Amino acid sequence: MASFVSPIEIKKQSEYVEKIKLLVGDKGLKAFVYTLGCQQNEADSEKIMGTLQKMGYQITENEKEADILMVNTCAIRDHAEKRALSIIGRFKHYKAENPDIIIGVCGCMSAQEHQREKLKHSYHYVDFTFGTGALHRLPEFVYNALNKKKRYFDIDLATPEIAEGIEALRQSPYRAWVSIMYGCNNFCTYCIVPYVRGRERSRKMEDILSEIKDLVSKGYKDITLLGQNVNSYGKDLEEKTNIAKLLSEISKIDGDFWIHLMTSHPKDASAEMIEAIKSSPRTSGHFHLPLQSGSDEILTKMNRHYNLERYLSIIEKLRENNENITLTTDLIVGFPGESEDDFNKTLEVIKKVKYDSVFSFIYSKRKGTPAASMENQVPSEEQHRRYDILCNIQNDISKQINESYIGTCQKVLVDGKSKNNEGVYTSRTQGNKIVHFECENDYTGTFKTVKITRADTFALYGEII
Ligand code: 5AD
Ligand code: SF4
Repeated sequence: MASFVSPIEIKKQSEYVEKIKLLVGDKGLKAFVYTLGCQQNEADSEKIMGTLQKMGYQITENEKEADILMVNTCAIRDHAEKRALSIIGRFKHYKAENPDIIIGVCGCMSAQEHQREKLKHSYHYVDFTFGTGALHRLPEFVYNALNKKKRYFDIDLATPEIAEGIEALRQSPYRAWVSIMYGCNNFCTYCIVPYVRGRERSRKMEDILSEIKDLVSKGYKDITLLGQNVNSYGKDLEEKTNIAKLLSEISKIDGDFWIHLMTSHPKDASAEMIEAIKSSPRTSGHFHLPLQSGSDEILTKMNRHYNLERYLSIIEKLRENNENITLTTDLIVGFPGESEDDFNKTLEVIKKVKYDSVFSFIYSKRKGTPAASMENQVPSEEQHRRYDILCNIQNDISKQINESYIGTCQKVLVDGKSKNNEGVYTSRTQGNKIVHFECENDYTGTFKTVKITRADTFALYGEII
């Protein structure tokens, strides 16, 4: 059952904010936040920046001028953890130059006991660490660090609560993240998330709806509903609700905006949810449905609770009378015990489904997960060989699909000037396809229509109409 941070605790944290404001005053102190990992982390970092700004810090993109440095870490793969540690390592000399600098580490990596201990013992200049469930306590951690209290390494992960009302400093004025739930109950055998983000808890529907209404009234045009498994939204709430009901309520909100869901679990993709997705033009343009592997044997070892047949039947339903939907997926290559035959089954699926794009990952051993101690770990060289084969096949498929857009007109949300090309703007379709076009006027943040004239594996190109 979802539980909420008490009003007393929220008040306590607001009092810390006020005390910090007095300390920070108008000294023009600056804060830098480095974010690794998924959209959930991006959303958490916007809340961290919102809180730091409230305390009186100015947010900077230049770490060298920062008085407080934070790293919001990811633990999903070894590479993400190595990056986090190297960034934290880089911060050491800032503290050596100025001992008043505050360094905080948060997010999934710092929620693991072995990494927390490493940070405590090998990174003496880190002032505090905390996991995703303690984000609302940032004012307390910063206040204690400012007052040179003992270093603090939060371990309270057992019952993370939902904290409403933390204002986000949104990084875009037209694309927004809205968390609808936190945590995960699924324990896929390769995945660290349930251990670091705790069990599923859903926000109340009324809180989500009022956040979306507020965003739409401010001109937001693209809203992503976030959760590790948004299909099981509401299962833990007292009020009887689910993702389909939430989508139907969202569809009643006036305004021109798109809704994305990130991310879904096929085992919970109910017929009601699929119908809700298809019935609204706001949601029917794109769906991300992680498959992970095309082999039933591997899916069982991954503890995914569906087989390929069931997965393909969901894809079929999503496409029925809705053939223009773009479909994307996540795939893991080189899971323990994955044979050449298992891998070929995954290749068969991508050739059959023809996803618009695929997020493919090389399996990475996560300490404490069941898969880490499974037999027949696939050697790294073989994992890379399979990964390259998969990417090459998918790149051809993505290119073919993108080329089929040539000659069509696409509604896009304009993101702004392209970094590399003068006079070129970048935008995205509802199906998340990148569209570049030349234009003399700046239409950033608005919907436009582009006629597609060219395409490659990763993008479409066209002329604004
Ligand atoms: N190794 C590789 N990929 C992983 N993912 C999750 N855990 C691991 C891991 N240990 C992938 C899954 C998931 C995506 C967010 O990250 O494909 O859907
Ligand atoms: Fe990880 Fe599986 Fe939960 Fe996704 S559903 S966060 S892959 S445990």
